[in-house]
Amino acid sequence: MSSCEVEGQNLNYHCNIMPPYKRFAVAGASGTVGTHFLRAFEHSPHGYDVTILTRKRGGNQQFAAEWRKKGAKVREVDYEDEASLVSALHKIEVVISTLGGPAFALQVPLVKAAKKAGVQLYVNSHWGSPLTGDDLPDLATMDALRNAPLRMAEEVGLPWVEFRNGTFPEYCLPIPLFGMSELGHRRATIYGDGNIQNSWTTQVDTVAFVLHVLRHLPAEELKNRIFNIQGDLKSFNEIVQLYETKYPGSPFDVIYRPLFELEGEVEHREGVERLLSSIMLAVVTGKAKHNQETLDNKAFPEWNPRAVVDVL
Ligand SMILES: NC(=O)c1ccc[n+]([C@@H]2O[C@H](COP(=O)([O-])OP(=O)(O)OC[C@H]3O[C@@H](n4cnc5c(N)ncnc54)[C@H](OP(=O)(O)O)[C@@H]3O)[C@@H](O)[C@H]2O)c1
Repeated sequence: MSSCEVEGQNLNYHCNIMPPYKRFAVAGASGTVGTHFLRAFEHSPHGYDVTILTRKRGGNQQFAAEWRKKGAKVREVDYEDEASLVSALHKIEVVISTLGGPAFALQVPLVKAAKKAGVQLYVNSHWGSPLTGDDLPDLATMDALRNAPLRMAEEVGLPWVEFRNGTFPEYCLPIPLFGMSELGHRRATIYGDGNIQNSWTTQVDTVAFVLHVLRHLPAEELKNRIFNIQGDLKSFNEIVQLYETKYPGSPFDVIYRPLFELEGEVEHREGVERLLSSIMLAVVTGKAKHNQETLDNKAFPEWNPRAVVDVL
């Protein structure tokens, strides 16, 4: 009998005979990524037990009320109050953070409380490209905030895992900065020559990947690990061509803008605006793309993620 079999029954998940995780808490569930997790849990046949963590003050009350009405467990927490967090995380096995950038710092107390509550695994809020502060100095502050919970998790001995999925096409392509928001009017704006490819994964596919590996990989293969995943690899020229083929019609008006315009925006803008232009510059110069040699897609061999064309 292999270590993956018990009395002839093939346990095709944890070779260490641990049952898959069942009890999850999602922090920041009212955001775009969090909502996708909730929907996946809601429609899963695996009987997950999910608790939604939302801020007691400043949280999305309407969202909390809607999910309560559906029978969800919603715990209103104060991230600065450890006792409130520890109590909300009682019996939780996995904490998935989908907190947004302004709340990244709250993940440090979240990790500490999770450890005290007996949580077994912490999933960090990253959900982005493999770019780091070393690649992009403008990202350094956010990167430090994003990494701090991982260092805290290591300090307190709570295993962590993080997923880098590239850019969400359905979320980012409608943003004017990406130059694709007027595809419906047969117009596009492209920085550079448009031939540089970028890594794209939809949120639905990202969540499916996460839940698959949490269900199937042994705990030691998840521990303190970054998964680099990619649903599709496409350039902006390819995206326009795919759109034209999918929706034939009048000719497209594509405006090509020189990279120095974007570089100028980075130089002259401040704060979030500067960061966004800086990330966009990284995208159109191929810096935000995954290394194709080190993708972790194989951790879910049956994964069949949507392509960018599917969300156009
Ligand atoms: N790869 C991509 O293309 C891409 C695109 C977008 C986002 N992302 C990443 O996905 C993650 C989630 O992003 P998101 O856009 O879903 O985030 P978000 O909507 O800004 O925030 C998610 C949740 O965090 C909580 N929150 C927000 N601001 C807070 C604050 N100041 N203090 C405390 N809690 C706060 C809220 O939950 P409650 O109100 O319930 O407490 C909110 O619903 C981030 O890591 C982000 O970088 C990636």
